[in-house]
Amino acid sequence: MKILLTGKTGQLGWELERILPSVGNVVAFDRQGLDLADSNSIRRTVAEIRPDLIVNAAAYTAVDQAEDKPDLAHAVNAEGPGILAEEAKKLGAALIHYSTDYVFDGRKTSPYKEDDPTGPLNVYGRTKLAGERAVQAVGVPHLIFRTSWVYSTRGKNFLLTILRLASEREELRIVNDQIGCPNWSRCLAEATLGVINRISAQGGVPFLNKLSGIYHMSGTGQTTWCEFAVMILQNVTNQLEVSDTPSVFKAKRVIPISTSEFPTRAKRPAYSVLDNRKLFEEFGITLPMWSIQLSNACEMPELARAAVYKSR
Ligand SMILES: NC(=O)c1ccc[n+]([C@@H]2O[C@H](COP(=O)([O-])OP(=O)(O)OC[C@H]3O[C@@H](n4cnc5c(N)ncnc54)[C@H](OP(=O)(O)O)[C@@H]3O)[C@@H](O)[C@H]2O)c1
Repeated sequence: MKILLTGKTGQLGWELERILPSVGNVVAFDRQGLDLADSNSIRRTVAEIRPDLIVNAAAYTAVDQAEDKPDLAHAVNAEGPGILAEEAKKLGAALIHYSTDYVFDGRKTSPYKEDDPTGPLNVYGRTKLAGERAVQAVGVPHLIFRTSWVYSTRGKNFLLTILRLASEREELRIVNDQIGCPNWSRCLAEATLGVINRISAQGGVPFLNKLSGIYHMSGTGQTTWCEFAVMILQNVTNQLEVSDTPSVFKAKRVIPISTSEFPTRAKRPAYSVLDNRKLFEEFGITLPMWSIQLSNACEMPELARAAVYKSR
């Protein structure tokens, strides 16, 4: 199986590029190699590679900046995936695409199911929802995995921001009234691999075609950004102790604050936990509980190194 992967420098793309070679020949692209905002770049590259499967891990993910760049966000998150789907269809290939919990408005108080009404509160969410619809409209065999609160041990994300802030400040003030489920990009890549393995074992694209649709791909449990921050610091502190490295954190307190005390350019849903039963029912895949994902991520040596380095 030949797999074309986009977004190889991103949190999820980086993990996928390392894990997917176990199921196929992976040809991975960064933005320079395949620009989702450029239809010619997409069409030319897909026609050249002639993949059996496209995995689109690229996206415009800067949620606040998207408010000021709606056209670019729409091109990358909505039009680009639609063109990828068209090109995949021409070749008889399938498409795996990722979307977000931010397609919901956050007014529910129990986990969102795939067919719950959407109602994005910001430009990013609207463009990602438009991307889902563009992929679905093409009628290519596809899987759209909606996930949430993605972090990684490299790049730019909440986990690394908390480590940096904790080494700079005595007090962290973190929002405590947004509820969601954090996901380690490696767990998402492993879940994606599990789905591809299941599809391969069941006969490939025809089987996938029958199961085309949206799936929520997220760990179990829920938390707030504030509790997540506390758990990050606890986990990394434990890891530093285990490796006999003196604690590098200045932070003595994590203070819960409300969203209104931390205004952002883009509005976020107050509640965006995803119900992931459909992924289990159709593919037998469950992701670990968010706190288990986090403790596994915090065991990665590069994280402790990042914490020590940031403190200097
Ligand atoms: N991050 C989250 O919290 C989160 C939450 C829910 C869902 N998701 C979804 O999960 C998927 C993976 O997200 P992630 O966290 O891995 O994102 P990420 O770390 O921000 O990576 C995004 C990747 O897309 C690339 N990209 C941006 N603009 C592009 C363009 N015009 N053409 C081609 N590539 C472009 C980036 O390249 P550069 O490095 O060159 O910019 C980067 O490699 C996305 O579909 C995202 O919407 C993410």
